[in-house]
Amino acid sequence: MTSIEKLKFLKEDQVRALAKEFGTPLFVYSEATIEQKCDEALAFPNAFGLQVRYAMKANPNSNILQIMKKKGILIDASSEHEVVRALHFGFAPESIMLTSQEFPKAFVELIGKGVKFNACSLRQLELFGQNFPGKSLSIRFNPGLGSGHTKKTDVGGVTSSFGIWHEKLEEVKAIVKKYNLTVEKVHTHIGSGSDPEVWKAVAKYTLEYAESFPSVSVVSLGGGYKVGRMEDEKSTDLQKIGAPVKIQFQEFAEKHGRKLILEIEPGTYLIALCGALLTTVDDKVDTGKHGFEFIKLDTGMDSNTRPSLYGARHPLVTVKKDGGEPRSNKEYVVVGHCCESGDVFTQKEGGEPMTRLMGETEIGDYVVMEAVGAYCSSMSTKNYNSFPETAEVLLRKDGTPKLIRKKEPVTEIFRNEILVVE
Ligand code: LLP
Repeated sequence: MTSIEKLKFLKEDQVRALAKEFGTPLFVYSEATIEQKCDEALAFPNAFGLQVRYAMKANPNSNILQIMKKKGILIDASSEHEVVRALHFGFAPESIMLTSQEFPKAFVELIGKGVKFNACSLRQLELFGQNFPGKSLSIRFNPGLGSGHTKKTDVGGVTSSFGIWHEKLEEVKAIVKKYNLTVEKVHTHIGSGSDPEVWKAVAKYTLEYAESFPSVSVVSLGGGYKVGRMEDEKSTDLQKIGAPVKIQFQEFAEKHGRKLILEIEPGTYLIALCGALLTTVDDKVDTGKHGFEFIKLDTGMDSNTRPSLYGARHPLVTVKKDGGEPRSNKEYVVVGHCCESGDVFTQKEGGEPMTRLMGETEIGDYVVMEAVGAYCSSMSTKNYNSFPETAEVLLRKDGTPKLIRKKEPVTEIFRNEILVVE
């Protein structure tokens, strides 16, 4: 049984005040917590220098990008559109690296501007060579090992299409030679929510790739650092996992006379714990003596699809609408508002509903879903059932809440449609 969850950066009075002022559902982000997470990442142990990239897919709101930029954090973009977004909000082309599954349609234009490219397949490498002979780039390898919080977020090993398979090193070298390219970086990213032991093993392999390319000056070990969203989950201690890798970089320097810069590109670690989703209990139903008691929230998989996609657990904290404490704790199945039986916030991977022990709640009370800063607003079934995009607020460092995304007007949902049927 899971323990009762607590609010992470909000106070109960704040929840009530924010819900009254802005309505629910509402994403609330804490600027102070984002800055703290940036500082933790920037203190990652390193021997000869560190670059931190923010995997902006986790949450690309311009205000969040701005906070990262002010901290000196660079950008990991995973599509050409993310590149355009980062450029639009003032990131220099050279501060953005594109690591994408799909070869960008505007490749020549974007890379021509100075955006860094991380070749993720032999085809991508070949196309880079054809278009930019003699230029520098990074190469992503699939090291043959992967690790994620579920199989769906594991991006290494034979079952993964991400990166160039490590045994194809000679083919990589041939293309590099053919186009007189300079490999300035080697890159691995093996999954989200990785086991630190697997990550450490992969760090060693990545240094071996650096050995194969004397021009490499930066080694990127990707993101994937696990974050404890629930009370019973632990976050990765960056100091602890970084220390042995720092030694590996020192040993590399002694052996090869090259002082490599370490790069990391977290998404989850930088933003997951910095966001909360304020919701209101819309209804309660039960399925009898042998069934379940359900709470229905005024949000769903259109704001957070992680439970439906991965069986991911997010803390659910009851905040009574009129103040005071819940009278007791109860086991509920908590569901979303979408007309979809899979829209359940408390489910096992595979879809079976689970109960969650939480403060007793009545219709009209608030339920705060915690640790929703990463891959919630940015990765959802937005607009399903024509639910508008959820509004977002940034809690500034002085405690002032500022609206950073308006609730989407319903007409915006169908603005790109063209009615041709009379
Ligand atoms: N670098 C690359 C190349 C990536 O593909 C990703 C994530 C990251 C860095 C950042 O990984 P993070 O530090 O956020 O784990 N939607 C999933 C995670 C999959 C993200 C895919 N790539 C989730 O909700 O947990």
